Amino acid sequence: MVDSNRVLVRAPSNIAIVKYMGKRDFTKNLPANSSLSMTLSELCTYVEIRQAEGQTPSSTFVAEKPDGSKGEVPTLNDRGREKFLRHFERCRARAREILFAHDLAVSESRLGSAAVIRTTNTFPLEAGIASSASSFSALTLGALYYFSGDRDSFKSRYAEKRELRRSLAQISREGSGSSCRSFEGPFVAWTLDEATRVESLLPPLSDLVVVVSGERKSVGSSDAHRRVETSPHWKGRVERAEMRFRVLTLALGSGVFSKVAEIAEADFQDMHQLFETSEPSFSYFASGTDEVLEFLTKCCNQDSVLPFAVTMDAGPNVHILVPQAAEEFWREKISAQFPRFPILVDRQGTGAEILL
Ligand code: PMV
Repeated sequence: MVDSNRVLVRAPSNIAIVKYMGKRDFTKNLPANSSLSMTLSELCTYVEIRQAEGQTPSSTFVAEKPDGSKGEVPTLNDRGREKFLRHFERCRARAREILFAHDLAVSESRLGSAAVIRTTNTFPLEAGIASSASSFSALTLGALYYFSGDRDSFKSRYAEKRELRRSLAQISREGSGSSCRSFEGPFVAWTLDEATRVESLLPPLSDLVVVVSGERKSVGSSDAHRRVETSPHWKGRVERAEMRFRVLTLALGSGVFSKVAEIAEADFQDMHQLFETSEPSFSYFASGTDEVLEFLTKCCNQDSVLPFAVTMDAGPNVHILVPQAAEEFWREKISAQFPRFPILVDRQGTGAEILL
């Protein structure tokens, strides 16, 4: 039986090929430059929202696994929990306006009462796999679906109309910038305040994440966005990223994987150079990161090797994007070379989805 007072959704992480780094507006999370990412599928966050006793519009986070979810309950500190709940309340405050704009009804009873939120991640938190992207997109979809008064209409509108996804992406961006790219897939461009799907002629891709370290990052992405502007290398960053964004869009549209690989490499190196030259400087590299990158550079020079693209997020782990047909080849090659590093294997996906 459907429990009308409970929703369960899941949303994938995404891996940027041209990175969002630096903001032109810190309150609204408006990016300094356009970015473009590949949406994942199984590396994701589940969010469950339930109506609770009490007629006060409030929300509580409970560190328990939602029924029907996979993964681990994240250990959120007070700040993380507060940011998460603040975003849920932002969705509540704007639910009426967003739902009405899409001819969808609201549930007055759920809008005016307490809610309990539970969540799980299928990957290690804050290890450079964008957990804020998956958690905030899942929370946004879950919240708006929860506040809608007619679940079936919401579901069909969400499945059929890009406009609803775009509105969700817009509010999600205010919670976490990169989350706005997790409502669609496999490729999504984010330019200023809009996230839209990008056409691609590439064969379906997989992402192999070489987990060099699963430890929490010492510098969170919010700090990183501020600090990069202090780097001497920041000058020209926006222009460099915009140029790569345009070339990448064309490379996807014409299916030229070697160009995608070139852009991926240039942009992650650019971002990490900003980190390393900012004031104070910082680095996400762990012992092992360079080793993996050097091994991949050597592979590039081998004729027999199947194509691949390398990127890194704000973390120590190395993402290797490969055509799905070459996934096993690469998984075996990397694990033979680095048996000590676990490899998470995921495939391109189509964005956040409603489960219940
Ligand atoms: O959404 P945030 O504030 O966590 O920013 C993350 C930005 C990067 O992951 C480092 C790059 C990107 O475009 O995803």
